Amino acid sequence: MRVMRAETFSGYQGLKLIELPKPALTDGKVLVRMTAAGVTPLDHTILSGKFHGSKAPLVLGNEGAGVVEEGGGTDFPVGSRVMFFGAYGAFENGTYSEWVAVRKEDLCLIPDNVDDVRAAGIPVAYLTAQVALTLAGFRAGKTVLAPAIGGSIGNAVTQLARALGAKHAISSTTNHAKAEQAKALGFNEVIDTSLEKLGDGVRRITGGYGADIVIDGIGGEVLSEALGTLALGGSLTTLGYSASRKTTIDVTHLIVPQASIRGLNMFAQPKAAITNAWNVIVSLLKSGAIKPIVAKTFPLAEAADALRYLVEGRPFGRVVLTI
Ligand SMILES: NC(=O)c1ccc[n+]([C@@H]2O[C@H](COP(=O)([O-])OP(=O)(O)OC[C@H]3O[C@@H](n4cnc5c(N)ncnc54)[C@H](OP(=O)(O)O)[C@@H]3O)[C@@H](O)[C@H]2O)c1
Repeated sequence: MRVMRAETFSGYQGLKLIELPKPALTDGKVLVRMTAAGVTPLDHTILSGKFHGSKAPLVLGNEGAGVVEEGGGTDFPVGSRVMFFGAYGAFENGTYSEWVAVRKEDLCLIPDNVDDVRAAGIPVAYLTAQVALTLAGFRAGKTVLAPAIGGSIGNAVTQLARALGAKHAISSTTNHAKAEQAKALGFNEVIDTSLEKLGDGVRRITGGYGADIVIDGIGGEVLSEALGTLALGGSLTTLGYSASRKTTIDVTHLIVPQASIRGLNMFAQPKAAITNAWNVIVSLLKSGAIKPIVAKTFPLAEAADALRYLVEGRPFGRVVLTI
């Protein structure tokens, strides 16, 4: 079978299209013929040699969609369409591949109204967003800020918070064209930070109240500014570093509102948290209350271009490989 494997963790040139034997089925695994794989910043971090625990050579790809070929039993009958995320592409071979042997517990049936390309980009973003909101104590009526409306986490948190009854579901972008695109897509609480500071935008939208919950995948100055928007007793969850792993914070942004900051690692979540998150996500997908956005697809052989487009092009929506 064809796979896109990182032979070395040395940047784009380390990624090669090679042939590997189709995976053998062991207990508890389900053979999935992949149709599409989501491209994530984690793939880029691993390929750049900046992720702990991954060992080359490694087939990249942390999430994807496909069709069950064998081993799914009655829960996932042969021919059913599934999507999944897990250790794939980080600690074992991943989804940039024609077949993957997937642990049954990682699988979720794809609702009929969602195609495989869109489904491939759902698991990482939406599971992370839903788990983050739950851990932060989200409920209807809360005000949420998730920077980067075009990014997978920013967009998924915004869509979920809005669908689940947030008072405000606020996001941002550094790019004026993306702010316009967001507006055209119906995201009405997006701060264009090329025109207005993040904190000023949150205060304007919330009438000075601030954000109860911030979910931040950007790091750097964005995290530092987002911390300054927290309302009394609010919390910021840091889970990524698209801009930078390092930042400087003003400690009074935590002290004055008695706010808190926490980290989130999706590889450390209990099974129940993932199952509960899938239940919420699938129901909102079926009702059409959330609509995952795909910016562009690339064929498997062009995975390096797809990664470059994601990280350097900063598109609005997901980048997906078709297999
Ligand atoms: N902890 C976990 O378990 C977990 C789970 C999922 C993801 N993550 C991490 O979360 C982070 C975000 O993931 P994602 O999929 O949302 O990324 P993404 O889809 O690539 O979006 C990142 C967005 O960040 C903004 N950005 C990039 N560089 C920036 C900079 N220098 N300054 C300000 N903004 C910048 C851009 O938005 P604009 O161009 O609109 O400003 C970009 O679209 C990644 O680091 C990812 O690895 C972690």
